[in-house]
Amino acid sequence: MSPLQQFDQFEALALAALESAKDAAAVEAARVEFLGKKSGRIKALQELLGKATPEQRPALGAKFNDVRQRVTAALEARQQELAQPKAALTAIDISLPGEPVRLGRRHPLTQTMDEFRDLIGRMGFTVAYGPELEDEHHNFEALNIPADHPARDPLDNFYLATAKTAVGGPVLLRSQTSTVQIRVMEKTQPPIRVVSLGRVYRPDTIDATHSCMFHQMEGLMVDRQVTMAQLKTTLRLFATAYLGRDVHIRFRPSFFPFTEPSVEVDMSWGQGWMEIGGAGMVDPNVLRAVGYDPEQLTGFAFGFGIERFAMRRYRITDIRRFTENDVRFLSQF
Ligand code: PHE
Repeated sequence: MSPLQQFDQFEALALAALESAKDAAAVEAARVEFLGKKSGRIKALQELLGKATPEQRPALGAKFNDVRQRVTAALEARQQELAQPKAALTAIDISLPGEPVRLGRRHPLTQTMDEFRDLIGRMGFTVAYGPELEDEHHNFEALNIPADHPARDPLDNFYLATAKTAVGGPVLLRSQTSTVQIRVMEKTQPPIRVVSLGRVYRPDTIDATHSCMFHQMEGLMVDRQVTMAQLKTTLRLFATAYLGRDVHIRFRPSFFPFTEPSVEVDMSWGQGWMEIGGAGMVDPNVLRAVGYDPEQLTGFAFGFGIERFAMRRYRITDIRRFTENDVRFLSQF
């Protein structure tokens, strides 16, 4: 084979190898095989060039340069071709570290309420729900709160100016969850053991301990021979379960239209007494209003503020934190 033929053969083989190379590694292998500095086949061509006579050399030299240039060009073209689809893919650079996914979490009050339902549920209380938009019957009348009672003052409630029609009377944002006592008793026959957790609304001046919206947990138990001792035990066991230590419960005489006798409930676990809500034995008038026989049945009811519990447990000093929607606060729970 003449030197010129050997050059042609080299070119044909190199181009074929590059053509059939399916990935970058195969292209690289072909490059090393043909153009490799140390042991590429191109060395044989250089040797031919070295051995050429002075007459042959110019033509052979030109041929060598042509061949090397075409093979190099083919190599670069193939390299680019194979790199192309990758370049398109990496318009998004998948080698960069990803943005960490920020997981949300349940609001501290939601967590507290879930825990409350769980704990009180173990004592046999099921959960009932009632509407936040109430009529006067459920918010007041059936609860033995007469029309002239100060709690019904329009300035102490959020009455809705427009919504009179649907229920045929004034409508307000409920001021207490005791409304759910009535709704449950209207639909159910005793024995009853329910709690209801939810929002209530009062036009209070907002400060560190007051809000125009807060959450209550209402409890109601009605059966034959329900006693105040059971009420106190229920509250003590619940508070102990939530706070994880022996909690003391103290009753102070009070008045609510829908309970008789009525008490304010205080709780302590080491740091002095804290008022948590109201309670009492269901007033016979309330039992009558839902068609129960007060001669046969007794019941207890309680209602307390959920924020109070959560604030005490988590040492939150301002009730407004719950509604400011500040992640720096919320992410701590
Ligand atoms: N509803 C009363 C309040 O909001 C609390 C309460 C509930 C009192 C049940 C007695 C019985 O202040």
